[in-house]
Amino acid sequence: MARVLVLNGPNLNRLGTREPDIYGHDTFDDLVRECAATGESLGLEVEVRQTNDESELIEWLHEAQDTGSAVVLNPAAFTHYSYALRDACAMVEGPLIEVHLSNPAAREEFRHTSVVSGVANGTIAGFGLDSYRLALRAVAVLLAD
Ligand code: DQA
Repeated sequence: MARVLVLNGPNLNRLGTREPDIYGHDTFDDLVRECAATGESLGLEVEVRQTNDESELIEWLHEAQDTGSAVVLNPAAFTHYSYALRDACAMVEGPLIEVHLSNPAAREEFRHTSVVSGVANGTIAGFGLDSYRLALRAVAVLLAD
């Protein structure tokens, strides 16, 4: 069974209480449950993690490279400026899908830049938890090709 790491960056552990008008009322535990259920229905082994620490996120991407795992990544604010994260993403060989709950292109100017998009297979943004469901589907499609 193909393994997918669903990796989440800073402040996403605060879902449910973090700016609910933007990010909704679903909690991080809801996100974990939804990803597990979607993974099961697609025949993917899904593991969901979250960190507020850039170096830990980079280590997890190294792990994805070493284990040949696919990645669904919400880099959160690191999206917009972390070249170190981008370089780690570039080493991942399995599909790597960038996801966002909100649509950064429709928000503040600084969110319009993603340094990660250029090394991802694709980006899904703006659909709340459905962004993750769609990203896992994209992984399944790319693995089947
Ligand atoms: C986010 C969008 C980012 O701009 C923001 O910094 C986040 C969450 C999203 O999922 O919509 O932390 O990645």
